[in-house]
Amino acid sequence: MGKVFLARPIPEVGIEILKNKGFEIVDSITEADAMLSGLPDKLDKAFFDTAPATLKIIANYAVGYNNIDLDAAKAHNILITNTPDVLTEAVAEHAIALVLSIARRIPEADQHIRTGEWKESWAWDFMLGMELKGKTLGILGPGRIGSRVAEMAGAFGMKAITCGPNDDPDVFLPQCDIVSIHVPLLDSTRHMINADRLAKMKPTAYLVNTSRGPVIDEAALIEALKAKTIAGAALDVFETEPLMSSELFFLDNVVMTPHIASATLEARTNMAIVAATNIIEALEGRTPPNLVK
Ligand code: GLV
Ligand code: GLV
Repeated sequence: MGKVFLARPIPEVGIEILKNKGFEIVDSITEADAMLSGLPDKLDKAFFDTAPATLKIIANYAVGYNNIDLDAAKAHNILITNTPDVLTEAVAEHAIALVLSIARRIPEADQHIRTGEWKESWAWDFMLGMELKGKTLGILGPGRIGSRVAEMAGAFGMKAITCGPNDDPDVFLPQCDIVSIHVPLLDSTRHMINADRLAKMKPTAYLVNTSRGPVIDEAALIEALKAKTIAGAALDVFETEPLMSSELFFLDNVVMTPHIASATLEARTNMAIVAATNIIEALEGRTPPNLVK
């Protein structure tokens, strides 16, 4: 029926769907008809130039696909699919979790207790944070995920404003109390948040990123955080992943999570089903539902 190479493990349910349809799971890309890839798999031109002629589809187990050279895939007639929608809720919830974590200093407060630093039981100005009600949450990239974050912001009484591809970030940024980034990584969005743009943000504002690290010029962000020209940042993604050492580690106005925004059992299970479905549709000669342009 067809051979499917899984470049990395996925939830069993996806594998079962493929096996039940008669596909064989193989250990090597040689002679594979389909491949399942993940974000750490850098599928560049050299990869496609040496990919087996049998390969018809690569299903990326992610909504983002900046790890794949789409032009090279097209030149070799290999279809590329992603896993949108099923992770929207998980990522949006994580963005809100980061907003609350940085605004209410949750990791810092937790650390304060664990390290035995909690000496005075109460003071009016102890660990003051920022209330969300009435604040403006700026959504940079109002796609599926960004729009869901905007909806959730409503429940907190925040006003959501958006900045799409035709809007001017320089007009948008000064209005925001919190900026949450939801753009894909493209040439046009790489280092979109640079030193000049950071300088446009309010000194009381927080920056939240669950999209891709290189959308922010991380060195410029570190400078802004050190100089306190913005209040803080909550980051799930970084310019280099895994992040093994960084000046960010020594800043207390930063909250970090290790690229886990879509990591709910629900999202990751459904991503496996969606990726398997895309492979099946492509190998059975139909247009896969999540074909990437
Ligand atoms: C995660 O980063 C994704 O693109 O799914
Ligand atoms: C982006 O990929 C989105 O789903 O908003």
